[in-house]
Amino acid sequence: MTPTWAQIAYLVAAVCFILALKGLSSPKTARTGNLIGAVGAVLACVTVFFAVDLDHEVPMLAAIAVGSVAGVVGAQRVQMTQMPQLVALFNGVGGGAAALVALLELHEVVALSGFGDVPKFDLAAIAFTILVGSVSFAGSLVTFAKLQELMTTRPVLFPGLPVAFGGSLLAGIGLSVLLVVDPSLWVGVVLALLGLALGVLLVLPVGGADVPIVISLLNAFTGLTVAAGGYVLGNTLLLVAGTLVGAAGTLLTKLMATAMGRSVLNILFGALKGGSTLGAGEASDRPVRSAGPEDIAILLGYASRVIVIPGYGLAVAQAQHTLRELVDVLGEKGISVEYAIHPVAGRMPGHMNVLLAEAQVPYEQLKEMDDINGEFKQTDVVLVVGANDVVNPAAKTTPGAPIYGMPILNADEARQIVFMKRSMRPGFAGIENELLFDPKTTLLFGDAKETMGKLLAAVKAI
Ligand code: TAP
Repeated sequence: MTPTWAQIAYLVAAVCFILALKGLSSPKTARTGNLIGAVGAVLACVTVFFAVDLDHEVPMLAAIAVGSVAGVVGAQRVQMTQMPQLVALFNGVGGGAAALVALLELHEVVALSGFGDVPKFDLAAIAFTILVGSVSFAGSLVTFAKLQELMTTRPVLFPGLPVAFGGSLLAGIGLSVLLVVDPSLWVGVVLALLGLALGVLLVLPVGGADVPIVISLLNAFTGLTVAAGGYVLGNTLLLVAGTLVGAAGTLLTKLMATAMGRSVLNILFGALKGGSTLGAGEASDRPVRSAGPEDIAILLGYASRVIVIPGYGLAVAQAQHTLRELVDVLGEKGISVEYAIHPVAGRMPGHMNVLLAEAQVPYEQLKEMDDINGEFKQTDVVLVVGANDVVNPAAKTTPGAPIYGMPILNADEARQIVFMKRSMRPGFAGIENELLFDPKTTLLFGDAKETMGKLLAAVKAI
């Protein structure tokens, strides 16, 4: 029986998790939200240590120490562009841990209580946790390997993959039923192995471009697994925390898929049908208009309204600080400048918000897509920095294009468009961007950080 003080501590931790999610919903409060969530997690861990009569405390503390050091070092070293992989890794470890806990619980159930006494619902929760936790663990490791380019980022397909996946899924469901009817440890172990195979088969056919969405989906899986684990262990806080993660992960998956104009099923199984796979495209050799930093500086200097569209290339180049300086200098010259933020610019949710917040760009200058899309018609210059797909008109005009149906920023409606990129290579979706060939468009070629520095110097010199 959990003592009252511990139940109150769990309640406080649960409130912390809810407040953390609320805080994370806005860039202004995200840091505080993150901190509140961390406080809740520490409180939960400490409470367990004092409220429960534990065995093996020393190895547990040692494991916590190793995990904490790995977590802190990993989080400090990670580049912003590698954040999705880190999330995948953390998420996979959570799913794997839940599956192991469920296996241990199954061991206890089988060894100590005798089958007859265990409610069937508990056994169903154990089976669910083992299966889905293993899927989440193995799937997350494959997504990590894809994003870290330890393996190909392209969809991996082989003959018989759909049959292997379907067969493993059916076998997983069958074994889960068997575990409920006639529980034994070996069924649990085979179920876990099957879950690992299912996780790999689920993620292999997903193309690199869609992997962040799958991470979010696996995150939802882990949440549900942890919630089921909480039920099995009779721990209300795990149940609450898992449900929150499951719900948040599901909503995020849905939002990301909608922002990319795709369905989750298409993302997961599109490659099996063929045709929907996103991939690296070829650079075009059609003629374009390009100019040097001095010409673009004059264009900007004579504008009265400028909109900056940041994208993945800004993060790669780490040009956010120089960009903020440029915007500050333009502002001092009386030019109105705002940033247009596309929901899937970059490679993870909120990527541009985080990047620009790091460069201390005031939140008021950041405008969501729906708020700014009507303003491009009255804009003199749009400065597209390392973005491509999020302004590609093919999303509106080319049925069959991988991004068709994705809402885009209406950069094409501005009077002048400047693209800062290194080459004519396409973006993430691997398709040509007709806007690069528009008569209103000028290209400023080069690494965004280097050219941004030159552009800043040229604007200051006007
Ligand atoms: P992209 O379409 O990927 O375009 C990025 C551009 O940046 C490329 O054209 C590249 O051209 C340029 N670039 C790369 N490194 C650069 C550097 N060092 N200096 C200057 N330019 C550089 O990016 P986007 O417009 O942000 O669109 C995001 C894409 O990712 C969308 O297709 C979206 O669906 C997908 N996606 C997003 C998410 C989330 S949640 N954000 C998740 C999954 C997928 P060069 O190579 O010629 O320089």
